[in-house]
Amino acid sequence: MDIVFASNNQGKVREVRAMLEGSDIRIHSLADLELHIDVVEDGHSFIENALIKASTIAGLLKRPVLADDSGLEVDALGGAPGVYSARYGGPGLKDEERLQLLLDEMKDVPDAKRTARFVCVMALVDPDGTNLTARGTVEGSIIHEAQGNGGFGYDPAFLPRGYQDTFGILPAETKNRISHRSMALLKMKKLLEARG
Ligand code: IMP
Repeated sequence: MDIVFASNNQGKVREVRAMLEGSDIRIHSLADLELHIDVVEDGHSFIENALIKASTIAGLLKRPVLADDSGLEVDALGGAPGVYSARYGGPGLKDEERLQLLLDEMKDVPDAKRTARFVCVMALVDPDGTNLTARGTVEGSIIHEAQGNGGFGYDPAFLPRGYQDTFGILPAETKNRISHRSMALLKMKKLLEARG
C-alpha cells in the first residue's frame, strides 16, 4: 500500500519510515514528491489538526494521505505547549530556543510536579474524504537541563517513564518502540488491516 505522509518535519518522516520497515505500507514524504505545501493548522485539538492536514493534501493529490499532529503536554503548565508545541514562544524561534523556553518556565517546578506526555494523533484520509484516526501517548517527565541531541524538538528534555535517559539520548530504535507516534501508528496499522 502506497501512502503519502503529509509532513515537512524530516524527524517525523524518518521515524514513521523506520516504524513501517518490513510492513507492506510504503511511505512517500512530501519532500520525495518535491511538494512544498504548508497547511495552516488552525484547529484547536490534535485530531482536528491531523484531519485538516491529511484531508487538505488528499484533496490536492487525490491519493490516500497520512498526517500526524503531535505535541508535548506539560501538567505544571496546564497542558501547554500542547497543540501549539511547534509554535511555542512564537513562530520566530528555533527548536532549541523553544526547548530552552520550556526549561526556563519549568525551572522552579519540583521534581514530583514535572510530569508530562507526548501525544500524537494520526489521521489517514482517502481522496473521497473517508478517514481513520488513532491516538498514542507516552508518559514521562521534564528534566532540568537538556540531555542529548538525538531525535528532534523537545526530545532532549523528555524522560520517558521507566527510563534513565531522555529521548535525546536513547537510541532511535528505543524511542520508535515506545513513542506516542509509534503507539498511534500501531493502532492505525490495525485499523488499516481490519479495513482490508
Ligand atoms: P506538529 O505535529 O507538526 O504540529 O508539530 C509538533 C511539535 O511538537 C514538533 O514541532 C515538536 O516541537 C513537538 N513534538 C512532537 N512530537 C515530538 C517528538 O517525538 N519529539 C520531540 N518533540 C516533538
